[in-house]
This record gives sequence, C-alpha cells and structure tokens, in this order.
Amino acid sequence: MKFFIDTASLDQIQEAQDLGILDGVTTNPSLMAKEGISGKDNILRHYAKICEITDGDVSAEVIATDFQGILEEGQVLADIAPNIVVKVPMIKEGIKAIRWFADNGIKTNCTLVFSPGQAILAAKAGATYISPFLGRVDDITWDGIALVRQIAEIYAIQGYDTEILAASIRNAKHIVDSALAGADIVTAPLDSIMGLLKHPLTDIGLEKFIADYQKSNPQ
Ligand code: E4P
Repeated sequence: MKFFIDTASLDQIQEAQDLGILDGVTTNPSLMAKEGISGKDNILRHYAKICEITDGDVSAEVIATDFQGILEEGQVLADIAPNIVVKVPMIKEGIKAIRWFADNGIKTNCTLVFSPGQAILAAKAGATYISPFLGRVDDITWDGIALVRQIAEIYAIQGYDTEILAASIRNAKHIVDSALAGADIVTAPLDSIMGLLKHPLTDIGLEKFIADYQKSNPQ
C-alpha cells in the first residue's frame, strides 16, 4: 500500500518526504484554506512548490462543477507539473470530465466517493484513483472500512485498473484497517502516519536496552 500525505502544509510534506515513506500528496480546497493559501495564482504556485518536494502524484482539486469549467481548470492544473493529478468531484459533469481526461492522458482522482456504485461509475469512466472518504462515513455511524473492502472486492472481480485511495483518515487504526481492506493507497494526515510508530512496549524495550548498555559500559 502506498502512502500519500493529506495536507497542503509544505513543512509536513517535507517531513514525510524526509522520513522516506512518501509516495504522493492529496489536497482539497479546505486544506489549502487551512494553510492560508488563496487566490488562483497563489494556489497554482503552492501546487508547484508541493511538486518540487515530491515526485509522487499530487492531487489538485478543481472548483468548477460544470463540464467545460472542470476541463479548463483541470488542464491548467495538469500543466503545473507531470505529477499533478486532477481531483474531480463525483458528480455527473465530473464523470464526463474524468472520461475526457482519461482519453487525453491526464490522471484523475475522483473525490467524494461514498458508495460502491459511485466507485463502479468512476472506474468505468477511467479514473486513475477514487477516494472513498471513510472517516466521513464513520462520522454518520456507517462503516467506512466496509466501504473500502466492498470496492476492493468489486474492482478485483471486475478487473478495474482504478486504484483505491482510502481518504478521510482520522487515526493510525484507519491506516492499518485500510491496508487489510485492500486499499492501494492511503492518504492520511501526518499525525495519523506518525501514530503508526507508537507502541508502549517499544518505548519500554528501548529504555531497558539503553539502561543495560550503560550499566555494562560505564563512562
Ligand atoms: C483527501 O483526498 C480528502 O479530501 C480528505 O482526506 C478529506 O478528509 P476529511 O474528511 O478529514 O476532511
């Protein structure tokens, strides 16, 4: 399973890159706003900065919701760097646009996916990635991981090439469960990724190894 980081923070993207585990980045308009990035030119410049940090795929989301608008915005985004993936919402006009981008060699990430039916449609349209938002599904007391598992089963049966990008990750357990459920990629905030490091027995064990070394190697 590949690891993407779900943020527009350059510092956090750099930190994940330095850790040596980064395969890509996802952003959305809310994450850009959180970093205080606004205005069309600033947003494009910010994506360019992200693409300087990583060679992995970087999802950049369109704001338009009409077919022509999505195509125009998507082409501008795709021109920023070869690793830009145009993030398109799961709506009728979005599906049409995903087909057009696929036919024209532009990678897409179909976002705001909440059902297996939507995942089938996006795969049929030729999406490179689909993003099931499992945290938001959990938020309404449904089962986000079950959604990822169902999509993975359908894609395996049908032989779809579209990759499942588990999104809306809220904790380290979501990452582990996504791996078990068959996600191809997980996109997570840095703190959820760092949560994978933690185990009390690791801390206790390391403390004892260091103490024992110091006892037998007095300074
Ligand atoms: C990433 O592609 C999604 O936009 C993001 O994971 C959504 O996360 P949220 O539900 O925590 O806002």
